[in-house]
Amino acid sequence: MPDVHINLGERSYDVVVGAGVLADLGVRAAALVPGRHAFLILDDKLPEETVLAAAASLDAAGFTVTRATVTALEVEKSLETVKRLLGAVGGARLERRDPVIALGGGITGDVGGFVAASYRRGIPVIQCPTTLLSMVDASVGGKTGVNLEIEGGLKKNMVGAFWQPRLVLADINTLRSLPARERRAGLAECLKHGLLCGESDGELFDWTIEHLGDIDALNMEVLTELVSRNVHVKAAVVVADEREEAGTGGRALLNLGHTFGHAIEPMKSLSPDGDAKHAPLLHGEAVGYGMMAAARAARLLGRIDDEAELEIRNGVGEALELRPLGGLPESSVVLDAMQHDKKVSGGRLRLVLPVGGRRCATFDDVDAGVIAAAIDSLRE
Ligand code: GLY
Repeated sequence: MPDVHINLGERSYDVVVGAGVLADLGVRAAALVPGRHAFLILDDKLPEETVLAAAASLDAAGFTVTRATVTALEVEKSLETVKRLLGAVGGARLERRDPVIALGGGITGDVGGFVAASYRRGIPVIQCPTTLLSMVDASVGGKTGVNLEIEGGLKKNMVGAFWQPRLVLADINTLRSLPARERRAGLAECLKHGLLCGESDGELFDWTIEHLGDIDALNMEVLTELVSRNVHVKAAVVVADEREEAGTGGRALLNLGHTFGHAIEPMKSLSPDGDAKHAPLLHGEAVGYGMMAAARAARLLGRIDDEAELEIRNGVGEALELRPLGGLPESSVVLDAMQHDKKVSGGRLRLVLPVGGRRCATFDDVDAGVIAAAIDSLRE
């Protein structure tokens, strides 16, 4: 089974990827943490067999297990949820060497990681992602946190901590129960990696698009390869710039599509196919539109040519099944929302844009007219 080692000195850990690896959770956890009381934070929509696989494995390895649930909605990714969970962790009398185990998608992992980072100034966390998006991105690299309500709007991931997990266990079997739309949306982060990994996996973008049929058909080998290749890309970026301090480049490049995406994700009426029943956008879909806008901005700035822009926009649109965003508010509204992004520094908006050769770069002070045109291009 493909393991990826995240080499961060004393904060190093393995990412284990494979079908059925959840059965090893207890044994692996017992080898990594001295405490024997596990606080299992679960996405409340997980199939019972996934929960049982994790709980039985922990039980067999001698852990006492206390459970709590999280509802995987952005509004629930809040300080109120963290407060509730911290109360439950304290009520269960977890000690400093006992682990929090987050089993679910990105919201569960981000909240669970932040609870672990905060309780008694930090206890171990093990991430067990169950969505494609969290396997290839959110569970790896130690970003944890919650959204914050500011001036009546939900601002994504404004409160949090870097808190590396002791282990990431990505059981590919859990993707079987993931709704098809969520699986496709998770491909946004895979395509993002494909656009920024340079020569380390220069085929990843095309390979992902070529294997859409296998991914829909739940071909376990293809899904394992997909997750493993993406974790390798993410690991290389995180190891080079763990706390996103590199200024230009480094971990900030993982924000490709996210500054545009985070601005439109909370807009409740937007849907990927214009059907109100499918609103709002999933995170991956918003990031997908963000990558399309980034491609247009890069082309307008002369950093990529027409053909490269089309390749990105068509590839992302096909993989995520995105249609023109007819209901998008005018560009000034989106631009204003972008100014609230936590990546704004000294009032300056920093964008990540593709520059060709499967590479991206950060750009400060992109002309507002270019950004507006990039936003407007999402209606095409
Ligand atoms: N998801 C972006 C990062 O981990 O830095």
